[in-house]
Amino acid sequence: MDTLAPAAGLDREAMAARYRANRRRTAGLFAMIAPEAYEDRPIPLRHPFVFYDGHIPDFAFITLVRDALKRPSVDPELERLFNRGIDPRDAATAAQLQKPWPDRATVRAFGDACDAAIFDAFANARLDDPSNPSLVRAEAAYNILEHEEMHHETFTYIVHRLARDKQRGPRFEHRDVAPPRREPVAIPAGRATLGARRDGIPFGWDNEFDEHALDVAAFGVDAYDVTNGEYLAFVRDGGPLPPFWLERDGAFMLLGAFEDLPLPSSWPVWCTQEQATAFARWSGTRLLTEPEYHRAAFGTPGGEERAHPWGDAAPDPARHGNFGWRRFDPEPAGSSPDGASAWGVHDLVGNGWEWTATPFAPFAGFRPMASYPLYSNDFFDGMHFVMKGASPVTASTLVRRSLRNWFYFDYPYVYATFRRAYD
Ligand code: AVJ
Ligand code: FE
Repeated sequence: MDTLAPAAGLDREAMAARYRANRRRTAGLFAMIAPEAYEDRPIPLRHPFVFYDGHIPDFAFITLVRDALKRPSVDPELERLFNRGIDPRDAATAAQLQKPWPDRATVRAFGDACDAAIFDAFANARLDDPSNPSLVRAEAAYNILEHEEMHHETFTYIVHRLARDKQRGPRFEHRDVAPPRREPVAIPAGRATLGARRDGIPFGWDNEFDEHALDVAAFGVDAYDVTNGEYLAFVRDGGPLPPFWLERDGAFMLLGAFEDLPLPSSWPVWCTQEQATAFARWSGTRLLTEPEYHRAAFGTPGGEERAHPWGDAAPDPARHGNFGWRRFDPEPAGSSPDGASAWGVHDLVGNGWEWTATPFAPFAGFRPMASYPLYSNDFFDGMHFVMKGASPVTASTLVRRSLRNWFYFDYPYVYATFRRAYD
């Protein structure tokens, strides 16, 4: 498992380059919305676009420069305004967040000031300091890199919901082919190692620790994600409409990232965890659990566990799956055979996150992380469920075995699909 070993030393140039690439990606995403949409809020329970323009550099500045390195503020008021951008659950809380926003030039100047301080820190500061809890193993530096990469994805969910005439997105080719149908794959009883050792990976979020092995009973699993075509039978039988479907002139269409498409039957259905659970029950079975995901993705007939479904090679969107911004929308299920797991289970990483039946909860040994104590802690409420894998717009740098994502069971905007398990 070479790929799980920590990188030797700290490459500050590589970190600065990654931060710069992330800032460029953010700018590119903002270029996908018409200028007049800057204060639009296409998802009522998320902030308007302007918030994220401030939040991303603000969070990076606060976390690394101000709070970890104890350097002076650049603008205390804007630092507070843009600090936290989690989905409020109800409209009343969302309404409270509404306020006159600073104009775009002000936000840009603030972001530039944050970035300047961050680049200075990457170049000169002590990033890895065992005596500073936020800097142990350069935690704060990695934190801000991954935080921005996650916001690239969640920002894209919001751009997806913007009125078409205000979108400036790229166009991609779409294929819809008959999906290769296959019987569920039988996974024998065996061990699954969840989480990671604190010294085992260069960086992980607090909810990824500690590492622990579980015995997982034998089960069967869908070789491919449930597709739109399969889900359609459920809808025809009274099942709920996935949030990415629209009905037009009696036909179902898919709300693609940048265009409406005739429903592509072979693409994985993106839907809520609640809908996934309902579909599984309707078809006489159940949703995969998080430990079962690990067995299906990383287990092998020989008994050893691997870093990725395809083995130990570094994640490569050109070979292993529809992730890492290869495109914005799904592809037909099974389009990345080189990324299949040892058991022949496809698309476990890429083409949409995989909802699980497992409520988001801490592993034994969980400790809130020093550089962001509320990262996970606010969400252990039984209403959020673990997602594994990746979507088309998940950065390759976030693809690792121990990474866990989570959303509300009824969150409708996430790029997540599912597969069934069979007892
Ligand atoms: C881990 C994707 C659920 O976007 O709500 C961003 C990541 N936390 N800023 C989210 C996050 C704070 C989080 N998810
Ligand atoms: Fe954030």
